[in-house]
Amino acid sequence: THKIIIDTDPGVDDAAALLFAHNHPEIDLVGITTIFGNADIDNVTANALFLKQHFGIAAPVARGASRALARANGPSPTHVHGSNGLGDIARSDGAAGAIDPRPAHRFITDCIEDNPGEITLVAVGRLTNLALALNHAPQIAALVKGVVIMGGAFSTAGPNGNVTPVAEANIIGDPEAADQVFSADWPLTAIGLDVTRQVILSREDVAELAQAGPSQALLARLTQGYLDYHARLGIDGCYVHDSSALGYLVRPDLFQMQSGPVRVACDGVARGQTIMADIHTPYPPNRWDDRPHISAAVGVDARAMRALVLEVLGISDQA
Ligand code: BDR
Ligand code: CA
Repeated sequence: THKIIIDTDPGVDDAAALLFAHNHPEIDLVGITTIFGNADIDNVTANALFLKQHFGIAAPVARGASRALARANGPSPTHVHGSNGLGDIARSDGAAGAIDPRPAHRFITDCIEDNPGEITLVAVGRLTNLALALNHAPQIAALVKGVVIMGGAFSTAGPNGNVTPVAEANIIGDPEAADQVFSADWPLTAIGLDVTRQVILSREDVAELAQAGPSQALLARLTQGYLDYHARLGIDGCYVHDSSALGYLVRPDLFQMQSGPVRVACDGVARGQTIMADIHTPYPPNRWDDRPHISAAVGVDARAMRALVLEVLGISDQA
């Protein structure tokens, strides 16, 4: 089994990833840490507590950073996730469980230090909490079992972004934090937008989810506005970005990977772009050789990944 902490900004696709993690028999969810992003930190933390309660998740929730390390927050993507981050469904705040007293980055460092070699961090939002954790306790880099993130884009097919032509939301939302996470000497895997965009749930899949049980019905309800957003883009269905990071954990064989050093552009027109150096070229003299190599997805068996998501969420693949 994989003992994981999910660092998340719920978030419609984050909500699906939480249910995926809770349902998968080989995943032991030991903590949920929140990070501003799809909505502000108050909303995403309330959403995490709400989803924990509705899905019957036992793991504690710890509240994370409200802003990026070095710059003002950009606007929240209300056109994607609604103004509360969960498609504007009504959220009952009252009954939600108590929150862990520690800030997210302290929860993360404590948990890794108490369980050396056992914890995998799965980060599916901005990387601020991970950077704060590294700064607070650099020794966690050697103690963590693995780090899997959803963010950036790595295939050589060309630039890919959902905030600018070259920048993905989780990276441009805190590029300095992302660059620190890519610079740390820890076993890091990134599943980027160019890969997660290949895995699409159809409107029919979501309608079927609505019939599968109370957790799935809640997920289907909060996904309606997200489906409408995709429809406006001409996409019949919706992306399930964050679930692909968990998919990688349990089925790495479904992904094609490439490794090399990665840097994040922090300024200028390319701000938020993830750039992986080609370590096989004889040029140039400076190939960022002093930086650790990360492993990044450049392809996925999209059919199998979609089937896995449907199966773990509790419906079967009809396509
Ligand atoms: C990522 O940004 C967020 O909107 C999603 O939850 C996902 O983590 C996709 O770019
Ligand atoms: Ca997310």
